[in-house]
Amino acid sequence: MKEEINIDLKKENKSLKPFIRWAGGKQNLINEIFSNLDLSNIDRFFEPFLGGASFFLKSDFNQSFLSDLNPNLINSYQQIKNDPNSIFSGLSEFKPPIKEKLYYDIRDKFNKHSGDQTLEQAIRFIFLNRTSFNGIYRVNKSGKYNVPFGKANPAFSSLEHLKDISTKLQKASLAFDYYDSINNSTQRGDLIYLDPPYPKLSDTAYFNHYTLDKFDQTSQEELAEFAQNQSQRGCKVVISNADIEDIRSLYNNWEIIECSAYRFISCKKEKIKVKELIIKNF
Ligand SMILES: C[S@@+](CC[C@H](N)C(=O)[O-])C[C@H]1O[C@@H](n2cnc3c(N)ncnc32)[C@H](O)[C@@H]1O
Repeated sequence: MKEEINIDLKKENKSLKPFIRWAGGKQNLINEIFSNLDLSNIDRFFEPFLGGASFFLKSDFNQSFLSDLNPNLINSYQQIKNDPNSIFSGLSEFKPPIKEKLYYDIRDKFNKHSGDQTLEQAIRFIFLNRTSFNGIYRVNKSGKYNVPFGKANPAFSSLEHLKDISTKLQKASLAFDYYDSINNSTQRGDLIYLDPPYPKLSDTAYFNHYTLDKFDQTSQEELAEFAQNQSQRGCKVVISNADIEDIRSLYNNWEIIECSAYRFISCKKEKIKVKELIIKNF
């Protein structure tokens, strides 16, 4: 019995990769972000712009509070947490090469069931994420997912990977909500990682349409104010954002570290190197 518990603890501490492709995902930057932070003596962690969860999946906190404004995304985490085996079997039904028609059939079903908190919807979500064009998540004005087919030979997670994520999620709670809903839950000493949709950069626009609500300059200003309030409460706050003057000017009194990442920009096929910021108060 003792041995089994030890094995599980080891899994919780493992640094894991996301199970989805996610625009603006921090997978390539996460080591650099971690090397700039002292994460000792932190018990509780909040990640309210969860996306692919690069930060959470690398970390090891006693309690994590994970949330995002995308209900289908949150459902996928919840279903993996509850039953990684069934997610794996569901995805295994899709044998590559995936036909375009199958993609659009699943997309129709996904839209019909949008927001359903079910295992089937989670399987559809992961399937679409892995086979769509660049793995982006974009909805039209009526909230329908409308990304075209992109990848006939998707790489789905192994059963071991899904089980490891499930083990890690046992110490996390999941919620579908606006980022600022964590406002009444945070306490002195908590760590908050904020990774919002990035501002549009003229013709080299960052993709930022994850949800129907657009994250514009006013949203960025509100986020900076929110971060400041959390800082005053005694929380440790880290923010990722684009390296542009509009963003820098919002964080005058914060420590700002430059880094660079390869990203898909606009509709271009290749990734290009862009500068990003790590903004922190500790
Ligand atoms: C840049 S992505 C996060 C990427 C993530 N850190 C990763 O490594 O994959 C931003 C996320 O914020 C979510 N989002 C957008 N507006 C939001 C809001 N107002 N409140 C909470 N989440 C929001 C999007 O659904 C998206 O998943």
